Amino acid sequence: MSSSALSHRNTRAFRPEMLKAPRDFFVPEIVHQQNASNLALEIGAGKGKHALGFAPAHPDTHLIAIERTRTKFEAFDKLASKEALPNLTPIHADAIAWSVHALPPASLQHIYLLYPNPEAHNPNQQWLNMPFFEFLLSRLQSGGKITLATNIESYMDNAEQQATILWCLPSMRYKVPQNSARTHFEIKYLARGETCWELVMQKPEGYQTRFDTWQSNKIA
Ligand SMILES: C[S@@+](CC[C@H](N)C(=O)[O-])C[C@H]1O[C@@H](n2cnc3c(N)ncnc32)[C@H](O)[C@@H]1O
Repeated sequence: MSSSALSHRNTRAFRPEMLKAPRDFFVPEIVHQQNASNLALEIGAGKGKHALGFAPAHPDTHLIAIERTRTKFEAFDKLASKEALPNLTPIHADAIAWSVHALPPASLQHIYLLYPNPEAHNPNQQWLNMPFFEFLLSRLQSGGKITLATNIESYMDNAEQQATILWCLPSMRYKVPQNSARTHFEIKYLARGETCWELVMQKPEGYQTRFDTWQSNKIA
């Protein structure tokens, strides 16, 4: 690995051992299944529009969709219960603490970060600026992907730069088509005539993080 590929390992490390498991925490059965190679995670699922469309369209993938805000989660959970999709698990939790305690290393095929909070006044909280992002990468399988979408060009510019320079990830940036309607926020932004951006990053073979062997004792 080139020296630039080690750049994220010179930054302040995330401390998973400092985080308590969320209230009412449980590890979904799918995480324990040997053949769960098609596991995807959505962080900040809102009222679940993407998750509820994704699950029936991808019957071979199991999606765990996490939302922290109670009111949004309750709306999502109500619809999810009605549709009873066997490959969708809605979770009400902070995704950082939940991921630390529920996900084994290299367990995810795809991670979706769709229209995250802009964090304009606190850029340290943007996903690719957070030490947690290294932990998230450790949970991704080799060749696994992360899809980030936003309507904020400066958020996308920074994310693209961080993906390349700090995290050493190959990535592709796209404009979201005007007729896309994956999430409530996407529909709102496109209806206002705004441009929405998408960045798809891929974890290369042989990629190393400082958490590749770290696992919570909550995962039996
Ligand atoms: C701008 S909304 C977008 C919701 C949805 N993805 C959409 O596009 O319609 C961002 C969502 O991320 C959720 N969120 C932010 N940080 C989170 C975290 N650490 N864990 C879980 N959800 C989080 C917020 O509660 C909020 O509902």
